[in-house]
Amino acid sequence: MAKHIGILTSGGDCPGLNAAIRGVGKAGLSRFDMRFTGFRNGFYGLVHDRTLKLGNEMLSGILTDGGTLLGTSRDKPHKMRIGGKTKDMTDAAIDTYQRHHLDALVCLGGGGTQKNALRLKEAGLNVVTLPKTIDNDVAGTDVTFGFDTALGIATEAIDRIHSTATSHNRVIVVEIMGHRAGWLALESGLAGGADIVLIPEIPYDVEVIAEAIRDRGRAGKHFSIVAVAEGAMTVDQSSTIHGLLLEKEAATEKEEKAEASEKLRQFHDQHVRHTQDLTAKIEAVTGYESRLTILGHVQRGGTPSPVDRVLATRLGTACAQYLAEGNHGDMISLRGSETVPVPLEEIAGKKKLVPVDHPLVESARLVGTCFGDAAG
Ligand code: F6P
Repeated sequence: MAKHIGILTSGGDCPGLNAAIRGVGKAGLSRFDMRFTGFRNGFYGLVHDRTLKLGNEMLSGILTDGGTLLGTSRDKPHKMRIGGKTKDMTDAAIDTYQRHHLDALVCLGGGGTQKNALRLKEAGLNVVTLPKTIDNDVAGTDVTFGFDTALGIATEAIDRIHSTATSHNRVIVVEIMGHRAGWLALESGLAGGADIVLIPEIPYDVEVIAEAIRDRGRAGKHFSIVAVAEGAMTVDQSSTIHGLLLEKEAATEKEEKAEASEKLRQFHDQHVRHTQDLTAKIEAVTGYESRLTILGHVQRGGTPSPVDRVLATRLGTACAQYLAEGNHGDMISLRGSETVPVPLEEIAGKKKLVPVDHPLVESARLVGTCFGDAAG
C-alpha cells in the first residue's frame, strides 16, 4: 500500500517553500508510491486537522511561486493559544497523525520548527524536517532555502540606496532581517559594498561608526551606507543580554526561569526600535543628514531565486528518497555538495551564528568595511 505522508510548513514563510513541497510531492507520487496530505497553517493545522490533499494537480505550476500553498503560522503543538489560553496540544497533534494513518510527517521550517519536530519525534511520531529561512541560522546545514532570494533582494536594495545616498550626501542606515543572526546583513553588505556592516555577533560602538563616516568624509566621500542586521547590538546592549542569558541559565526554580525569560522578552521587544536610535545618533554625532530604510518583509516575498529553487527541489527530492528507504527522525541538510540526514537531537535548539573570524568577515574587513568594533 502507498505510504501516506503528511506535510506542513511552519514559522515565517520564505521563497522556496512551494518548490520544496513540489520536490517531495512529485518524487513521492511518481517514483516512490506515496500519497500526501498537507496540513494548513503549520502545527495549527495538524492539531485542528485542517488538511489539503496534495495530488499532482496541486503540485503543478508552483515551482516559482513565493510563500507556501499550505499557509504557515508560528504555532507550537505544546504551547498553543486556544480560546485565550495557552494549552499543550501535543495529544491532539498525535491524534490527527494517527487518524490519518500517516507513515511520516514532513515539517518544513526554521529553528523553531526543528525544536517542535523533535518534541513530536520524542512523542513517538515519525518526523523528518527540511531547513528553510531567510535567516540562514539553522544548525547542521550549510545553507537554508530562502536565504539566497532574500540576499538578492537586500543586495538590490543596497545598490539602489547608493545612488540616492550619494546624490544627497547622506548616511543611509538599511535595516536587514536575520533575527539574531547576521548572515543576511553580512552577505548583502558585502555584495552591495556597504561601508559599515553591523551584525549581532560583533557588538558595535557608535563612536567607531562615526569615526569611519568622518574618515570617508575626509577622503571626499560624503555619503555612507550602514547595513544593520535587525539583531545588531551595541557593546552595552550585548553585555546586558549576556547577563540576562546567564541569569536564565543559573535559575533553578521555575518562577526564576520565567522571570528571566520575561526580562529577555522585554529586552528584545524594546530592541525592535534600535535602528531608529542608531540613525538619530549617527546624525547627531557626525552632522551628516541620516535616514533609515527598513527592508522588512519585502525580503521574504516573491518568487524564489534559481539557487533557492534548485536547493529546495534537491532537499525535497532527497527527503522523498529518504522516506522511501524507511527512514525518519532527521533533518535533510546540505553539507558541501551532498544532501545528508542530521539527527534532530543534534540541531534542535541550536543557532548557526556568524563566527567572528568567518572568512566573509575577514574579506569585508580587507576591503575596508567597518564592523563598528575595536578592529574598526
Ligand atoms: O525568521 C524569518 C524572519 O523573517 C526573521 O528574519 C524576522 O526576525 C522574523 O522572521 C519576522 O517575523 P514575523 O514575520 O513573524 O514578523
